[in-house]
Amino acid sequence: ARLVVLVSGSGTNLQALIDAAADPAYGAAIVAVGADRDGIAGLKRAESAGVETFVHRIADFADRAAWDRALTASVAAHEPDLVVTAGFMKILGPAFVEAFAGRIVNTHPALLPAFPGAHGVADALAYGVRVTGCTVHLVDAGVDTGPIIAQGVVEVEDADHADGGEALHNRIKTVEHRLLVDVVGRLAREGHRIEDRKVWIPA
Ligand code: GRF
Repeated sequence: ARLVVLVSGSGTNLQALIDAAADPAYGAAIVAVGADRDGIAGLKRAESAGVETFVHRIADFADRAAWDRALTASVAAHEPDLVVTAGFMKILGPAFVEAFAGRIVNTHPALLPAFPGAHGVADALAYGVRVTGCTVHLVDAGVDTGPIIAQGVVEVEDADHADGGEALHNRIKTVEHRLLVDVVGRLAREGHRIEDRKVWIPA
């Protein structure tokens, strides 16, 4: 399967996919990495792995719809079977979601439907939950609302309140990397169907 991965930041989830895809038995190859900003570690990770990159900054377009169309066209040019948003911090536009409907996989650092949005770790800490985690799900037109594929649980420790959630986010990311690699590999090798908002992967 052909994967396009979208990133906005450090790209540790991207790195986990790059490492997994180095084994041909994984069943997926990363054909391009896209970003919404320059100079991020995620792009450097792609370049080091010899993966083609592209950047579309919203500020360079007349409006969000024009950015949405450009991002859609750039990704479509790579003919992906799956698109993975791995720490991509922009909400995808309607053209993009329609073009790749049912084939966009996102990873979120909380147990959805709790704590959607850009501050899943901080919001979970502030609420005072004792367990949180990560969710790998398909992207629909909403924000972190699409069908859930898999979740991983991480316990909150008292000390997590002392550092603003950094250590908690690091523990979540360790689980997230494994979960994302597992889900993307299964989707790539087995395919999936969506029924009544549930995602079924055969075998
Ligand atoms: C991940 O925890 C992701 O779920 C969240 O931001 C983080 C991105 O990390 N949206 P990275 O760029 O993959 O290192």
